[in-house]
Amino acid sequence: MSESKVGIVAIVGCGVGRAHIAQGYQRQPSKFQVRALCDVDEDRLTAVGDEFAIARRTRSLDDVLGMKDIDIVDICTPAAFHYSQILAALSAGKEVVCEKPLVGSLAEIDRVIGAERQARGRVMPIFQYRFGDGVQKAKRIIDLGIAGKPYLGTVETAWKRTATYYETPWRGRRDTERGGVLLMHAIHAHDLMTLLLGPVASVFARAATRVNPIDVEDCAVASLVMRSGALVSLSPRPSARTARSAGCASVSSM
Ligand SMILES: NC(=O)c1ccc[n+]([C@@H]2O[C@H](COP(=O)([O-])OP(=O)(O)OC[C@H]3O[C@@H](n4cnc5c(N)ncnc54)[C@H](O)[C@@H]3O)[C@@H](O)[C@H]2O)c1
Repeated sequence: MSESKVGIVAIVGCGVGRAHIAQGYQRQPSKFQVRALCDVDEDRLTAVGDEFAIARRTRSLDDVLGMKDIDIVDICTPAAFHYSQILAALSAGKEVVCEKPLVGSLAEIDRVIGAERQARGRVMPIFQYRFGDGVQKAKRIIDLGIAGKPYLGTVETAWKRTATYYETPWRGRRDTERGGVLLMHAIHAHDLMTLLLGPVASVFARAATRVNPIDVEDCAVASLVMRSGALVSLSPRPSARTARSAGCASVSSM
């Protein structure tokens, strides 16, 4: 897709996919137009299609991949579908945006990287927190060398996730959600940590399920050594607070 062309988008999965339209594409009309929607849930398809006046609606990804005018396939389905849908969209010659978690294993990400090398399109995972003002300022300060040598980082992620959250059938199950607090929630804070502190050299971690009756982890601790030599601790777990989410991170340097 050329830089000057308006990107024609299809949204696949109309849960958070609705927010991609409302908070993303719709605000950039000179760059993107959403022309097609795909969801296996007819009611959602109708609700989101009517709200944004998107006429082309389908329950099948194959239909979307056959639409010649669609440049960008934006995958917002439950986690277990991402891997196969990314590969299908790449082999159909589409650009691919995909929600986190991109895939569920290192072997899968290696195969996605290999498929992308052979494909016309690129894969763009959603890590929206990278684009926050504060994070961008912190990165600039670090990149300019003002922050000095990184000594130590701590990342604590405490998002409130009650039984109600796990009522959505695909959540909390290893086969459909692929992972728990590490893969689904703390992924954002951990992504920021690597953005600011660079690649990880080694990890020692423990994970357990202690809060909700689910089969993915909801508590974890990890001790990391970064390639820079900095030490980092991570402790994702559910919040005991009533606020929907809480999290904090700090980096010590000189
Ligand atoms: N970046 C973020 O902050 C953020 C926020 C919320 C969700 N997410 C991610 O987005 C993804 C979806 O989460 P959600 O909260 O929207 O879930 P959701 O269950 O609310 O919505 C998923 C939608 O996908 C549809 N769907 C399921 N299988 C499909 C298929 N094969 N083809 C087409 N449509 C299909 C479902 O009918 C549903 O409408 C997850 O991977 C989640 O981790 C990311």
